[in-house]
Order: sequence, then C-alpha cells, then structure tokens
Amino acid sequence: MLSKVNSGALLGLNFIKVICEIDISTKGFPAYFLVGLPDNAVKESRERIISAIKNSGFEFPSNDRITINLAPADLKKEGSLYDLPIAIGILIGAEKIYPKINLDDFVFLGELSLDGSLRPVKGVLPITAGLKKYGIKNIIVPFENRFEASIVKEVNVYAFKTLKEVVDFLTGKLKKDPFKDDTKSINSLSTYNIDFKDVKGHFHAKRAITIAAAGGHNILMIGPPGSGKSMLAKRIPTILPDLTYEEMLETTKIYSIGGLLTEDTPLITKRPFRAPHHTTSSVALIGGGSSLKPGEVSLAHNGVLFLDELPEFKRGVLEVLREPLENGYVTISRARGSVRYPARFMFVAAMNPCPCGYYGDPEHTCSCSLSEIKRYRSKVSGPLLDRIDIYLDVPRVDVEKLMEDEMSESSLEMKNKVVKAREIQYFRYKRHKNILLNSHLPPNLIEKYVILSKEAKNILKMAIKKFNISNRGFHRILKLSRTIADIDNSEKVDEKHILEAIGYRTSLEL
Ligand SMILES: Nc1ncnc2c1ncn2[C@@H]1O[C@H](COP(=O)(O)OP(=O)(O)OP(=O)(O)O)[C@@H](O)[C@H]1O
Ligand SMILES: [Mg+2]
Ligand SMILES: [Zn+2]
Repeated sequence: MLSKVNSGALLGLNFIKVICEIDISTKGFPAYFLVGLPDNAVKESRERIISAIKNSGFEFPSNDRITINLAPADLKKEGSLYDLPIAIGILIGAEKIYPKINLDDFVFLGELSLDGSLRPVKGVLPITAGLKKYGIKNIIVPFENRFEASIVKEVNVYAFKTLKEVVDFLTGKLKKDPFKDDTKSINSLSTYNIDFKDVKGHFHAKRAITIAAAGGHNILMIGPPGSGKSMLAKRIPTILPDLTYEEMLETTKIYSIGGLLTEDTPLITKRPFRAPHHTTSSVALIGGGSSLKPGEVSLAHNGVLFLDELPEFKRGVLEVLREPLENGYVTISRARGSVRYPARFMFVAAMNPCPCGYYGDPEHTCSCSLSEIKRYRSKVSGPLLDRIDIYLDVPRVDVEKLMEDEMSESSLEMKNKVVKAREIQYFRYKRHKNILLNSHLPPNLIEKYVILSKEAKNILKMAIKKFNISNRGFHRILKLSRTIADIDNSEKVDEKHILEAIGYRTSLEL
C-alpha cells in the first residue's frame, strides 16, 4: 500500500514541504530503496528506523519491498529529521497501524534512537513558522524541541518522547492537547545585567556610540590596552531599541538552524552580541560547511558583531564581511545552488593604535617606528575601513576618574536618545522600503535628505581638502551628520553637526 507523510526541508530560512511517499509491496524480492536526493544522514536512517520500529513493539515488514521517495525529488534532503515521518509511513504502508487523524493536516519531524525514543533536530522553529504557507495547522516534534515550536502561536504543537507515543496518538489510544508555553513571558527576558552606567568617564566614546546606534553606523574603536573598548562594545545591545516580535522570530530561526536553542532560551529576545576571536575562519564567520550552518554574521543578525583586535584577523576573513555589510545578508554556495541567510548587524571593531599599543598614550611611550605603525594599520585598510562610519579614539581613563563616584550616563538614558532619533528616521524614510536608518541611505538620496546650511557646506569643503577625504568618506560624513542632527532634533544639518561628523573620520590619520 502507498502512504504519504508530510515533513519539511529548509532553504535558507524558508520552509519547503517534503512528502515522504512510501510504497510497500508484498510482491518481488524484499528490498529497501530510498530515493529523492537524500544526504548521508538521511541514508543512514534505515538502520535507526528498523531498530526503532522493532524496539517500540511493532513488526518491521522485512519481507516486503519498501520504496521511499522524498518529494520534491530535486531538493536536497539533509539531516536526521525524516526518521520519524519515514517510520510512520512504513507502519501505515505495511498496514501495521491505522491512523484516526487526517495525515494531510500534520507535519512530522524527529530523529529516532535505536530504542525508539525521539531525539531533537535542528531548524524546528523556521519549519513550524513556515507551515502557514501550506495551510497546515499541526506539527509533531520531539519533546525537546517543544519550546521553540510553540513560539509559533498559530500552529498546534504535539511533542512526544517516543515513536510509540506518536503512534498511540495517531491511532487515538493516547489523548494529548497541543503544547503551550505560558511560563516564559517575553518582557521579562529582555533585561540586561550590564549597563553603560558601569563605564566611568568616556563621555566622548559614549556620545559616539549613541550616534552609531541611532543611525546604524559601523564603528571602529582605537585605543591602548585596558582603555575599556571591550567594555563599551559589550554594552551596545543595551541601548538599541527592543526587538520587535518579528525580529525575535527571524533571529531565533537562525539559532534554530544552528542548533543553538535550549529549553531555557527557546526564543532570542535580546539583541545578539557576537564576538568571534581573531583566529576564526571565513566559514565560521559567514557560515557554510557541509551542514550549511549559519555563521557569526547571521548569529549577529539584528544585533552587534564585534571584532576585537581587528588587524589580527586574516585579510581573507575580513574580505568575506563585505557582502553582509553591504547587503544585510550572506549567500552561501554549495554543490546544488545556494542559500541565503539574513545578516544585518551593527559592526563594531576595536584595535590598538600601534603594535605595542601605546601610540598617543600620555603615560607610556610607544616603542614602534612610524613604518611599523603604518604597516599595522594598513592591515585593515581598504574596503573594510571604507565601510566604517565612525573612527573613535578611546584613550585610557585615569585611575582617579575611575574611583570618582560621579554620575555616568546610563544605558536607559542613551537608549532613549537612540529610540527618539530612530523614530525621526522611520518617518522620514517611510516611503522607501529598504531604508530605516541614515546609514542605509544610498548615494542618490543623500542630497535629498541631508540638507546642509551654508556654513556647514563651507566647512565640509575645507575638510575634504585638508584630510584628503575620498568620495565614499564624503558620503559617510553626510550620513553621519544627518544622524547627529537627528539626535539634536534638527531638520537642517548645521555647522556643529558637520564638524562633529568630520571629527569621527580623522582618528586614523598619522
Ligand atoms: N572607563 C572605565 N570605567 C570603568 N572601568 C573601566 C574603564 N576603563 C577600563 N575599565 C576597567 O578595565 C578593564 C579593562 O577594560 P577592557 O577590557 O574593556 O579594555 P580594552 O580596551 O578592551 O583592552 P584590550 O585592548 O586589552 O582588549 C575593564 O574590565 C574595567 O574593569
Ligand atoms: Mg578588549
Ligand atoms: Zn607602539
């Protein structure tokens, strides 16, 4: 008999329905065929399925001819999630069980252990979220995936620990309500245990970071060891606007595919902060490899990507950052076509001013020669630097200041400024689909939205000459000055706004 059981595959974040068609014939030689572009993990399912069926107390139709087709046939099927739908299809096809539910209304996912228990699989959230597209209302998942699946409110999630339980549910022996999770309220999860209040002094740095966060500008911090660069970077997520529910879902889907969700954090409610080490490989950074794992740039989606000690990264590794910085997504190529993952993040980097770290420090003398410094800085020159709006000097704060108990601006105060400035931008760019922030302005719209006063224009002209500012740099200054004026709630860009913006472009000058 022929049976059909729904399951799914992912192309990037997109769910595609996969139908496991299973034909069981008592004629011909006993055999077990699996077709429809399975990868190795799917091919190996045979042994797991046979043992799991037997160890769950059912009979495996060993003397029959079993043909399994995963449709559509041109889509590559990866991973172990088809164990459960195939096992169910075999039991139905061999007429060992008779389901009382309409199978068309259900999608099945799960890896089987030899003893018949169900093990968690990756990508459950994006699969569950994609059911709507096909009008399917129910999903059957391994017990350990129940929290992430239940984030999708429109779908009934049935979570089970064993194959036997799933069969009993299908045949009506076991009654079960959809799993609902009311214990984790979203609001209570989005608080941070760090705050900009902890950073003493550094008014200039905090101001620049507020501007960066308000306009979505990338930022490079330059300062000696121990000056607080890492401390500042880590706190940036605390001043970004709260994630919307859609943003949470989108980021969580990426973590789901990476297999990084836990029972405690089934939903990513805070903006991510990712800080890959400088020895990180290109694949780890942008994603890919045989399992098409999302990389750090995608795990940082809607949050912050922090590269500490920027010149220590291999040039090739930094090169791959270009696509996500430019487009907000990464394309990962593989043998059959390519997938795309979102990767829109605020880029934050840090470096020492020179190899020894103390160039420009009033208390330590720098032991580097000018050519050593130039060589060190040139490691990050070119295309990547061109994509950074703010170069920020972060000098050491002297010990006395650190001990002072003065009031220091808190994350909440900074966040309020950021949120206000972002609202202004939101209304200004409402008509443009892909522009939310000043940093997203394409060159052809800069003139339209960044209107300089006469004095501001003159100052900019002089600065371009004096600092030899490139075309790209010119555009960056304009966008930056737009954000500075927005924080000031000024529609026009004045002298003081443009002066401050120019100041954020000159730190790397020697
Ligand atoms: N402005 C400050 N306010 C409070 N603490 C500070 C400040 N600056 C530095 N510190 C203290 O110094 C420590 C070192 O700072 P941090 O690690 O951020 O420096 P860094 O610039 O990243 O250094 P490195 O170049 O070595 O990575 C912090 O953990 C903090 O305890
Ligand atoms: Mg550091
Ligand atoms: Zn030095």
